Amino acid sequence: MTYDERYDAYLKRFHAALDSACERYLPADSRVSEAARYSLLAGGKRVRAVLVMASCDMLGGELDAAADFACAVEMLHCFSLIHDDLPCMDNDDYRRGKPSCHKAYDEATALLAGDALLTEAFEVIANAPASDKARVNAARQLAMGGGNRGMIFGQELDITHEGKQLNEETLRLIHKNKTGALINAAVQMGVSAADGSARDASLLERYAFGLGMVFQIVDDVLDVVSTSAELGKPIGSDAENGKTTFATLYGPEGAMELAKQMNETICAELRAEYGPKADFLVELAQRLLVRRS
Ligand code: IPE
Ligand code: IPE
Ligand code: MG
Ligand code: MG
Ligand code: MG
Repeated sequence: MTYDERYDAYLKRFHAALDSACERYLPADSRVSEAARYSLLAGGKRVRAVLVMASCDMLGGELDAAADFACAVEMLHCFSLIHDDLPCMDNDDYRRGKPSCHKAYDEATALLAGDALLTEAFEVIANAPASDKARVNAARQLAMGGGNRGMIFGQELDITHEGKQLNEETLRLIHKNKTGALINAAVQMGVSAADGSARDASLLERYAFGLGMVFQIVDDVLDVVSTSAELGKPIGSDAENGKTTFATLYGPEGAMELAKQMNETICAELRAEYGPKADFLVELAQRLLVRRS
């Protein structure tokens, strides 16, 4: 199978699971559920979903459990995007090529739609076709990556440092938490679905945090050099909110050079450990480096 065929195969299984999750957990007779579905089904690259599936697959695990874990992480990710766009946060009116949730609905509905996605993500894990151990581990990993020692902490730092000139160390701390932690949760949930070893977990943790850092650097560069049509979200949002990013620290080209070096390191390490089995995750990292959206 080529890389693209594999990506599509993962997406197909993920979408089937996501459709059932929407039916089951976001009932049609509620406006908040409707708003949650509006944002959740609006597309997106589904990188975190693919990371759950691909990590599980690389370790020889069962993809049914991984597909439900993938839904959970994309639900929590979508909650983070809905809230990130609110006027009290980044105040962005477009997301995934459509009006942001609070623009298509209203702020209170968007707030609650985010809350619903966050909460239901954990029920999806609880009901996943996986062993008790895998479900407990996945719930713990998602909470750790998405919560106050992960994504939410990163968002807190991101906001409290607005308008300040930051050094690379502080910026790395913000990126590690706001983006790396949830990407790591996705990968670790794949390890849990496959009942992987502690060694697998720690090797893949290095890959995930490296990938997360590169992913956010590229996001920051695209906010400067891309177009809103290509990105599906506004450009210039970071400058408007006074954020220090790798693009402001080193310029778009310098930031991309740094991202490229980091990517080479994480890919070489993964390949050294897993050989050809790592091909898909290595190619994924390379594609995310040169992405345009
Ligand atoms: C956007 O994430 C938020 C960041 C952490 C940079 P994505 O770029 O993965 O957004 P979608 O899911 O593809 O819309
Ligand atoms: C994303 O950072 C962090 C989240 C946890 C959502 P950004 O604020 O840069 O993400 P975009 O650019 O709005 O997608
Ligand atoms: Mg933000
Ligand atoms: Mg934002
Ligand atoms: Mg951004």
